[in-house]
Amino acid sequence: MIISNQAESFAHRTLLRFEGILNKIFGNDLNPFYCLGALGFFLFWVVVVSGVYIYAFYKTGMELSYPSVEYYTHEQWYLGGIMRSLHRYASDALMVVMVLHLLREFILGRYRGARWFTWVTGVPLIWLIFSAGINGYWMVWDTLAQFSTVATIEWFDWLPIFSDPMSGYFASQEGFNDRFFSLVSFAHVTVPLVILIFIWVHILRLSYPVVNPKRGLMLGMLLALLILSLVKPAVSQGPADLGIEPARLGIDWFYLFIYPLLDVWSAGQVWALVIGISLLLCVLPWLPTRHKQIPVAEVHLEDCSGCRLCVADCPYEAVVMRPRSDGMNFMEEAVVVPDRCVSCGICVGACPSSTPFRSETEYISGIEMPSLPMSGFRAAMVTKLARLKGDTRVVVFGCDHAANVENLRGDGIAVLSLPCAAMLPPSFIEYALREQQVEGVFVTGCRESDCYYRMGDLWTKQRLAAKREPRLRNRTDRERIAQFWASSADAEELALELDKFRSNLRGLASDKK
Ligand code: HEM
Ligand code: SF4
Ligand code: SF4
Repeated sequence: MIISNQAESFAHRTLLRFEGILNKIFGNDLNPFYCLGALGFFLFWVVVVSGVYIYAFYKTGMELSYPSVEYYTHEQWYLGGIMRSLHRYASDALMVVMVLHLLREFILGRYRGARWFTWVTGVPLIWLIFSAGINGYWMVWDTLAQFSTVATIEWFDWLPIFSDPMSGYFASQEGFNDRFFSLVSFAHVTVPLVILIFIWVHILRLSYPVVNPKRGLMLGMLLALLILSLVKPAVSQGPADLGIEPARLGIDWFYLFIYPLLDVWSAGQVWALVIGISLLLCVLPWLPTRHKQIPVAEVHLEDCSGCRLCVADCPYEAVVMRPRSDGMNFMEEAVVVPDRCVSCGICVGACPSSTPFRSETEYISGIEMPSLPMSGFRAAMVTKLARLKGDTRVVVFGCDHAANVENLRGDGIAVLSLPCAAMLPPSFIEYALREQQVEGVFVTGCRESDCYYRMGDLWTKQRLAAKREPRLRNRTDRERIAQFWASSADAEELALELDKFRSNLRGLASDKK
C-alpha cells in the first residue's frame, strides 16, 4: 500500500490554509494547532486536578456512588459541580485535541523514519484515554453508566478470554457489587497514571518538548471550559436500576460512540475495526511512500572538537557525546544515533567547523549530511553568486519543507535550499556578504513556531540575533539580512517580502551615495 501523494498534498494544503487563518486570529505564537500535544498535556492536568477534587467527595459502592455524585453536583454546585463539569469537558476536549494532533502529525508526514517511536508510542495513548473516559462514566452509576457497562461487558464477551460469558454473571444484581465498584474506582485512578507514563515515553526522543502551551492559550482554554461548565453543567441521568433494561440516553459522542456502532455492527466487526485501526496506525511509519529518506548525519572525528553544540541543537536527541576514541587532545567526541536521526541537518548548522571561511578547497565538517556536504554547498553558493547581475544581488537560503525558493530565482537572486533553515551556519551569511560581495542575504523557512523539525526557526532567529551559538558576528551588517518565515501556501507573501527587502537594499545604497 502506497500512501497517495495527491491526497496527502490536498490535506496538507488545506491544513496550511486553515492554520494561516488561525495565525491571523491568534498570531503564530498562540495558534492552538502549533501546540496540540502541549494542549493535550494541559487538558490532562485539568482533568487530573478537577478529578482529585471530586474524588474527595465520591463514595465507592453500589448504593453510594450515585448519591455522592448528586451531592457535589447539586448541593455543592459552585465548586464540586463546576469541578465535575470541568472534568467532563476537559476530557472531551482532550479527545478532540488528541485526534487533531494525530491527524496533523499524519498530514505533515511526521510519523516516518526515526519519528516512528513518537508516533507508535502515541497509539496506546488513544486507547488508554478512551478507557479512562468510558470508565469515568461508570463511576456515576446512572442509567448511562448501566447501559455502558452492560454493553461493554457484552462486547468483551465476544473475545475468547473467559470460559463463561461475563454478561451471565453481571445479568444478576450479584455481579454489580461493591467489589466491582472498587475495581472501577481503582482503574479510574490507575489508568491516568499509566497515561502519564506513556506521555513521558511518547516525548522521550524529543529535545525541548513543548509540554506547556503559552499562558494566553491555557487561560483561554480554561476560561472556555469554565463558561461551558456554568452554561451547561454536567449532570447525571437517572439512577441505575438493574431491574430495568438499560436504555441508551444522551450519549457522549466523544467517548461513547462505540455503542451506536455496536447497534449496527456485530461485536466481532467492531473488534475488527478497533484492532484494524490500531494495527494500521502502528505499521504506518513502515508503509512505503514516495518520500525519499535522506541519509542520516555523520560525524567526522578529524574535525570534531567535542564542543557539544550539535548535542544542544539536535531536536531529536540524536547526537550523544562519548569519551574520545581517536587519541586527539579533546575530552569527548560526538556520535550520531542513526535510529533517532531525522536528517534535518540542524547539527551541521551548529557545528563551528562548518564555516565556509576555511582555506581548503575541499573541506569536511565535524558533522555532515552526506546528501549535502558543506564543502559542496559552499562551492554551489560561490558559483551561483558569481553569476548574479545588478546592484541588488541577493542570496536566498530556503528550506525544503517550506515555500519553494526556486520560484524566486532571478538575475539578481540566487537561491539555495537546505533540509532545514537551521542547517545554515550563520558564518555562511557573513561569507556571502563579505567574500562574495552580495548586497543582501534573505533567510526563509517554515512558518514561525511551525518548523517541520520543531526547532529550526527558533535556533535560526537566536543565532542571527547572536543569542545562541554559533552566533552571527556582531560586526555583520544586520540591515543587509532579512528573515521571513513562510510555508508553501505563502509563496506570494514571500515574493513580496523579498521585493521589499531588495528595495530597502536599494535605499541603503542610495543613502550611502
Ligand atoms: C493525549 C495524548 C497525547 C499527548 C499529551 C501528546 C503530547 C505530545 C507532545 C507534548 C509532543 C511534543 C511536541 C513538540 O514539542 O514538538 C508530541 C509530539 C508528537 N506526537 Fe503526541 N501526544 C499525544 C498523542 C499522540 C498520538 C495519539 C499520536 C499519534 C499516534 C501522537 C503523535 C505525535 C508525533 C508523531 C509527535 C512528534 C512530532 C515530531 O516529530 O516533531 N501523539 N506529542
Ligand atoms: S540531522 Fe543532526 S540535528 Fe537533525 S536529527 Fe540528525 S543528528 Fe539531530
Ligand atoms: S558541533 Fe561539531 S565540533 Fe562540536 S561536538 Fe558536534 S560535531 Fe563535534
